[in-house]
Amino acid sequence: MTIQWFPGHMAKARRQVTEKLKLIDIVYELVDARIPVSSRNPMIDEIISNKPRIILLNKADMADAKITREWLDYFNLPGSSTKAIAIDSQTGKGIQQIASLSKELLKEKFDKMQSRGIRPRAIRALIVGIPNVGKSTLINRLAKKNIAQTGDRPGVTKAQQWVKVGKELELLDTPGILWPKFEDQEVGYRLATTGAIKDTIINLQDIAVFALRFLTDAYPERLKERYGLEEIPEDIVELFDAIGSKRGCKMSGGHIDYDKTAELVIREIRSEKLGKISLERPEKL
Ligand code: G4P
Repeated sequence: MTIQWFPGHMAKARRQVTEKLKLIDIVYELVDARIPVSSRNPMIDEIISNKPRIILLNKADMADAKITREWLDYFNLPGSSTKAIAIDSQTGKGIQQIASLSKELLKEKFDKMQSRGIRPRAIRALIVGIPNVGKSTLINRLAKKNIAQTGDRPGVTKAQQWVKVGKELELLDTPGILWPKFEDQEVGYRLATTGAIKDTIINLQDIAVFALRFLTDAYPERLKERYGLEEIPEDIVELFDAIGSKRGCKMSGGHIDYDKTAELVIREIRSEKLGKISLERPEKL
């Protein structure tokens, strides 16, 4: 696999996020609910350090609800300043919890500020996450009812725009972009299966092989049902042949077109034709 990981990009992104952290009270770390670990930056704990954080399992509408609950239990450790909730930024489901949970996590800090005579202000937050995880969608969704921006704050947040979310919350309008680390092959394949990284980076047939093996293991019944298979062949080429022939992915000579078959499988997974799928579960960590 020839995925490139650019240390230069990483370092720059990290610097930019670190700069923004100075301006905010809380971080919203957006991850893909289907792959909550593979869609994180592995250095996130170090980057964010001890800032309060809410892990937002986004695209929960596409994930296996049972496994999303397992992830919530995994991340929501009692007494920790990190919490997790499942959301769907496209419809806005779950996002109303963000402000209330932020208040809860910051209560002590804000109470202290008040007791020192500091005027109450809105909570300031930054959204961070890897490309394609839904950062812009979430900002737009949160800002929907209150698109008015508070504008620049000279001296404090030079040229930073804040987006108001109700009265008690403000978001930096540009999210922090962090990169996934796909040196680990499995991580790369999971990201590719969900469409988080461009199809040209990894060979489509390789992604489909990974995805079909995963489905055989985790969701065999759905695979059988979708492609009308009595049994799932153990041999991956036979599985491609079975799917390709059922779905008419053939070349002019009648041979199975493996590229076409791979594309079909990947497209159908991404468009939920095989149902809501989670590609990662906490017990396997
Ligand atoms: P980014 O800023 O982090 O790079 O991500 P962005 O908001 O652009 O979202 C990337 C894609 O993910 C978009 O789809 C967006 O609609 C989709 N998306 C974001 N949040 C959710 C969610 O909670 N559920 C689902 N199902 N999808 C979500 P796209 O295909 O690039 O565009 P489009 O289909 O919306 O036109």
